[in-house]
Amino acid sequence: MMIVAIDGPAAAGKGTLAKRLAAALGLPYLDTGVLYRATAKRVLEAGKDPADTQAAVEAARSLGKDDLARTDLRDAVTSKAASQVASIPAVRQALLDFQRHFGNSHGAVLDGRDIGTIIFPHADVKLFVTASVEARATRRHLEFLGRGEDVALADVIADVQARDEADRTRAAAPLMKAADAELIDTTYMDADAAFTHALEMIRRKT
Ligand code: C5P
Repeated sequence: MMIVAIDGPAAAGKGTLAKRLAAALGLPYLDTGVLYRATAKRVLEAGKDPADTQAAVEAARSLGKDDLARTDLRDAVTSKAASQVASIPAVRQALLDFQRHFGNSHGAVLDGRDIGTIIFPHADVKLFVTASVEARATRRHLEFLGRGEDVALADVIADVQARDEADRTRAAAPLMKAADAELIDTTYMDADAAFTHALEMIRRKT
């Protein structure tokens, strides 16, 4: 039973990479960002403030399959609110068991911010995937355009930077590379190159 932990800042290509690795390794995949995004969405829809601890914890505790399957969790407002609820320790605590249970059931590839540091500190393989802020924001911008959302690149850069800063400097499970994580910088790599590179690393380690 293998656990592959993939962490890194926003829009570094973690999700694409994690999905492909999971398929190649025959493991379930969990995008842990969805847990925080779905929590944020519930808080916003209830008309509450994402910084409201009680509202956020209630939302995190009551997440169901339908919340996680939503396809409207990736807009700028939800992204920012996700980062806000994610800074609340009790929210992180409420989502911890689900993540550990998911991984411990059949092994898994999980991507997020704290998988290799907090959720699975003994993961078989830890990857820290990053890229320059320009490269990451440009990719995210293309995704927005692809969905018909006409946003300015400068705004996407500002949003990505603000969210990274919040994720890195929060007290609870801040975004950081685990000491034993392998660094993959995808600034000059396309998705295929990142996948081949990561799969080689995993095969060397396991
Ligand atoms: O990865 P994604 O961009 O979907 O994550 C949305 C937000 O959820 C992040 O900005 C971060 O604040 C939070 N998150 C987290 N820990 C994780 C995954 C996501 O704090 N393991």
